[in-house]
Amino acid sequence: MANLKTVSVTKSFGDIEALKDLNLEIHDGEFFVLLGPTGAGKTTTLRIVSGLEKMDSGQILLDDEDVSDWVPATRDVAFVFQFYTLYPNLNVRQNLEFPLKSPIRNTPQDEIDKKVAEVAKTLHIEHLLERETVNLSGGEMQRVGIGRAIVRTPKAFLMDEPLSNLDAKLREEMRSELTRLQKQLGQTFFYVTHDQTEAMTMADRIGVLNEGALLQVGTPDEIYHRPANAFVARFVGSPRMNLLKVHWKNDVLASPGEEMVFEITDTQRELLRKYDKPELIVGMRPEDISVHDERREHNCFEAEIYFKQSMGAEDILNLKFDKLVVQATVAPTRKTTVGQKICGYFDIDHAHFFDVDTELRIV
Ligand SMILES: Nc1ncnc2c1ncn2[C@@H]1O[C@H](COP(=O)(O)OP(=O)(O)O)[C@@H](O)[C@H]1O
Ligand SMILES: [Mg+2]
Repeated sequence: MANLKTVSVTKSFGDIEALKDLNLEIHDGEFFVLLGPTGAGKTTTLRIVSGLEKMDSGQILLDDEDVSDWVPATRDVAFVFQFYTLYPNLNVRQNLEFPLKSPIRNTPQDEIDKKVAEVAKTLHIEHLLERETVNLSGGEMQRVGIGRAIVRTPKAFLMDEPLSNLDAKLREEMRSELTRLQKQLGQTFFYVTHDQTEAMTMADRIGVLNEGALLQVGTPDEIYHRPANAFVARFVGSPRMNLLKVHWKNDVLASPGEEMVFEITDTQRELLRKYDKPELIVGMRPEDISVHDERREHNCFEAEIYFKQSMGAEDILNLKFDKLVVQATVAPTRKTTVGQKICGYFDIDHAHFFDVDTELRIV
């Protein structure tokens, strides 16, 4: 078990700045998820932490010890890759035994047997032990891959999108299994993914990475309810948060065509008075917008239901306010039809405000 830190880590590949001054602090026993789109620098980060890639500058600390110059084998971290990396000429049992049979570990055979049995039980792969790996399904292979990582007790586990090649149903199942496994092992997991649902459901804390820069670190709740900037706001949550560029003048917050003139709270007014630009970005989550047949007093504006997606548990509506289109999620019990004229209500208490230029949260 260990805590893990990256201190001012930078890395470039030619002209590409893959990591820009990355500072991460992962606590002992924590499930930490680094979330970001493809190309953000997630794999590079894990490769540098494990020692497979050299950084340009910075430090890697494992349990507060500087391991920057250590070769991968001595860092004692286990890596689970995006693609299954089992030995095809060995069966499942032999694959699981492999890390314990390394000459530097020199584990006695009865201990190996015990450990393999334990891991197979945890991952529900006991029935697969004598199988050839070529005959396994994707999900089974990934379980064996994870098994091979947990069969020994490294200081930390590094996982690079281990679920991204599984089908949707299995991915969902494995999300809860991995979370349970991490709690059971009580070990440090450093997990990277581009999938915001994985991050939200599995992480103790999330770090959001984009173009090599760390944008925010927080619990799933903090990331969702107080995104630090418009990128995080857009990236986390499905359907996405609506981001509207609006005018801010003489204490009035209104859409450019004045389709919507928002009535804001006193606290929000105080906050925005410190912001001295004529425009800003208002973020509203789809669940904070609702539809009504009759006009309400405040923050309810005439709209037409323009498009509807029935998802079963909820309906996603595209509401057209003159030139503006926003998405709202409503309960299917609220019967709606395309073309219907309604009043779109904005629960303004839940609005997020971002600087029009920097896209940073206005706090
Ligand atoms: N070996 C490499 N050579 C050149 N460019 C690389 C190499 N590895 C990664 N990159 C670039 O660095 C950036 C970050 O890549 P990566 O860490 O793989 O992102 P992610 O895992 O978040 O998708 C990307 O622009 C990628 O093209
Ligand atoms: Mg990657």
